[in-house]
Amino acid sequence: MRQPMVAGNWKMHGSRESITKLLGTIKANCDTIPAVDLVVFPPVIFLQQVQQLLAGSKIQWGAQNVHEQPSGAYTGEIAAGMLIEFGCSHVLIGHSERRTLFNESDELLAKKFMAAQQQGLTPILCVGETLIQREQAQTEAVIIEQLNKVIDLAGVEAFNHAIIAYEPVWAIGTGKTATPEQAQQVHALIREQIALKSENVAGKLRILYGGSVKPDNAATLFKMPDIDGGLVGGASLDAQAFLDIAQCSNSYY
Ligand code: PGA
Repeated sequence: MRQPMVAGNWKMHGSRESITKLLGTIKANCDTIPAVDLVVFPPVIFLQQVQQLLAGSKIQWGAQNVHEQPSGAYTGEIAAGMLIEFGCSHVLIGHSERRTLFNESDELLAKKFMAAQQQGLTPILCVGETLIQREQAQTEAVIIEQLNKVIDLAGVEAFNHAIIAYEPVWAIGTGKTATPEQAQQVHALIREQIALKSENVAGKLRILYGGSVKPDNAATLFKMPDIDGGLVGGASLDAQAFLDIAQCSNSYY
């Protein structure tokens, strides 16, 4: 049995005040969702505040990005060891906004994935196709390539300590969600690809769906056999919506 997870990617949103309010509500209600792992991804500048607010709660936190080197002359960057100092448990690797807006390649992301794991962070590797790629029937090839770059460098056993998020680029922030069947098809493909190397790792691997997850579509998505929860952007900034989404996951396990 895979424990479901609902993760909130806050992107570049929030203020000291809004975060205190948001986490206050989530924290006060999270005991009603015992069977779901909850993780939030604030902008790194707020990590200390988040650590103070969430210490001792069941909610975990992480960063949206990490540098591939442990330290050095990389102005503006943050290393995995620094995230550990602020209590981070997870880090997003290869969110489509990092891939497209910041030109992060599969090769670079494989290095970031390794760097995160070496410091004890659990990477959430994001994969997904663009609309053009889907229309040209390249979804499968794109996903396999994104996965294989990491498997080649880190080895399949690395996925014992990692999570994958399938996030079709065309569904992120657009209000267009993949249908549960479309999402399930890709989730099954991801699990099959991992199973080619290790059925044991594949069976335990959590695969989250991301892309316009909302309280009204979460239940049908989370019902699918290979969808183990969600990576939520916009709706994670609303405490009640985030809790309602997590509740959908709770009720299916
Ligand atoms: P969204 O974002 O839920 O706002 O579509 C998802 C994500 O980018 O992780």
